[in-house]
Amino acid sequence: MDIGVLTARDKDYHPNRRLKEAAIAKGLTLALIDPRRVSPVIASGALGMKVGKNNGMPEVILPRQGAQITESSMVVLSHLHAMGIPLVNDPASILAARNKFLTMQILAADGIKVPDSAFVNSVAGFFEAVGQLGGYPLVCKKTIGRKGRGVFLVKGKEQAADLMEKQLVSSEGLMLQRFIPPGGRRDLRVFVIGGKVAGAMEIFAPEGDFRANFSISGKSMPVDLPGKAAKTAIQSALAMGLEIAGVDLIGDAENGYFVIEANYAPGFRGLEAATGIDIAAKIIDHAASFL
Ligand SMILES: Nc1ncnc2c1ncn2[C@@H]1O[C@H](COP(=O)(O)OP(=O)(O)O)[C@@H](O)[C@H]1O
Ligand SMILES: [Mg+2]
Repeated sequence: MDIGVLTARDKDYHPNRRLKEAAIAKGLTLALIDPRRVSPVIASGALGMKVGKNNGMPEVILPRQGAQITESSMVVLSHLHAMGIPLVNDPASILAARNKFLTMQILAADGIKVPDSAFVNSVAGFFEAVGQLGGYPLVCKKTIGRKGRGVFLVKGKEQAADLMEKQLVSSEGLMLQRFIPPGGRRDLRVFVIGGKVAGAMEIFAPEGDFRANFSISGKSMPVDLPGKAAKTAIQSALAMGLEIAGVDLIGDAENGYFVIEANYAPGFRGLEAATGIDIAAKIIDHAASFL
């Protein structure tokens, strides 16, 4: 088998279906591998793993479980990595990208512009951070989340208390972030593959919401990507060590763009729809360069 896609979803899930089509079109074999159904072993000091029935081991792996990737799947990824199988992306970059605050740390350390952010894991720490960030409104995010589901606007103290009661799991912590108001703000998703922009789109928040996620609005538009935004997205992917990245930028031409996250296994239904670009083919081409 040439390419293995590590996914807990089935063959009809958009990225899985498109990746399979793209692989077949290029004469490559691709199998979906459920990370819960493989068994990493260490026998007499040698690392091994049985994958499926008789598919054999893939020569390159695309880990595509998204932000919800579990501890147990990380173990599987590390095992494959230790076995010397190329992973696009690799476990270290996935660990960093799945956590929004770790992402802010890495990007800021590389000189990339991110919104002022704080990591909190107690009620007292939360209110301390509100002061440090200059007061409400603020955005509060679960450090691990996707599709806008763990992202909340906090307008004041009462709402903050309510939010903490519901969302603060102290072992995970929360991220507080300066709110970049929607007026004049643009939300850009830049898909970076192998250090190049593969495609970009603009996403719009639905009426009454500040979150511009394609999965919420279903609305995406092709965008003439400002050069600075393209450069920032590429630099972000590089800083994170991501071969494939869906970089989210918010901002405007005047004040510049802030990076808010870098997804390690971004979906591309909205991007293909908005741009007509065959993103699946580009991912497969990149994976094939490791064969
Ligand atoms: N600091 C912020 N200020 C204003 N809007 C934000 C901010 N952070 C996120 N958002 C909005 O919320 C959406 C979801 O946030 P994001 O960090 O990308 O999480 P997710 O992984 O759920 O997509 C973004 O696309 C953006 O529209
Ligand atoms: Mg996002």
